[in-house]
Amino acid sequence: LPAPGVVTLTGPDVAERMPRAEPESNKYRRGVVGVVAGSDRFTGAAVLAVGGAVRAGAGLVRFASAAEAVQQVRAKWPEAVTKIITPEEGVREVGRVQAWVLGPGMGTDDDAHALARSVLDSDVPVLVDADGLTLATRDRSLLRRSAPTLITPHAGELGRLLGVPVEEIEERRLHHARLAAAELGVTVLLKGSTTLVAEEGRPVRVNLTGTPWLATGGTGDVLAGIAGAFLAGGLSCYEAASCAAFVHGLAARMAAGGPEGGQAPIAALDVALELPSAIRT
Ligand code: APR
Ligand code: MG
Repeated sequence: LPAPGVVTLTGPDVAERMPRAEPESNKYRRGVVGVVAGSDRFTGAAVLAVGGAVRAGAGLVRFASAAEAVQQVRAKWPEAVTKIITPEEGVREVGRVQAWVLGPGMGTDDDAHALARSVLDSDVPVLVDADGLTLATRDRSLLRRSAPTLITPHAGELGRLLGVPVEEIEERRLHHARLAAAELGVTVLLKGSTTLVAEEGRPVRVNLTGTPWLATGGTGDVLAGIAGAFLAGGLSCYEAASCAAFVHGLAARMAAGGPEGGQAPIAALDVALELPSAIRT
């Protein structure tokens, strides 16, 4: 940094872009986000993704998954409206949402594939993360959509998606984020010690608000929920990804000891719980 075609958002830049609660707001206008995550085997990722969306200010979170994940989410986030679904019926009966978050902990078997297909067939923006990206690696057609798509890989996930060794991704992160955006026709949020947001025809945005304390299991799932809430709130993939990365990093920093950064370990749930303070800041 600085590199050509690369920009960084400041706090005021982000504040200006964030969804706001207007006097005439209601929960549907504030944004309904659907989360399809977790499975009978994995429930934690679902709890964290829903937590990110709830604490980032979604008007409503609809959660749809296997029974075990639904049970855990209901216990931890009574705010969410939940529904047990089967791969066959998909998300048809879940109700109207303005954006979907797809992937964390959902597994990668044929049932997960059918569920992913049902979400990606929708005509609203979809954020694809984690297992959702593994499914898209095996079946690229999942990402061919008419509505906007935001993918949120770490270097390993992006490497698999592009068929490029992870070392090469790490060596040239900027290049590969841009390449993925162009090749797949999606917005890319590439995670790591710095976070890049790439979309064709726009400058790459670099986010530096994070802290190495974020390198702990589950923080990526929280980020997916935050960005999903912002998508449902009406932000484009590019703006939702940039704002989410910023407040996620700031929340982690505050949880670790203060906005200037601290030296205390954090858990992924702490990041979700700190979001209102981070957004206020
Ligand atoms: N500095 C700043 N931020 C960091 C750093 C760092 N050194 N390391 C990681 N982060 C941030 C990333 O930018 C991202 O926002 O922490 C988050 C980690 O997200 P993921 O890589 O998606 O990790 P997560 O999904 O939470 O891990 C859970 O995912 O890959 C699987 O099996 C793996 O158990 C793991 C699971
Ligand atoms: Mg992850």
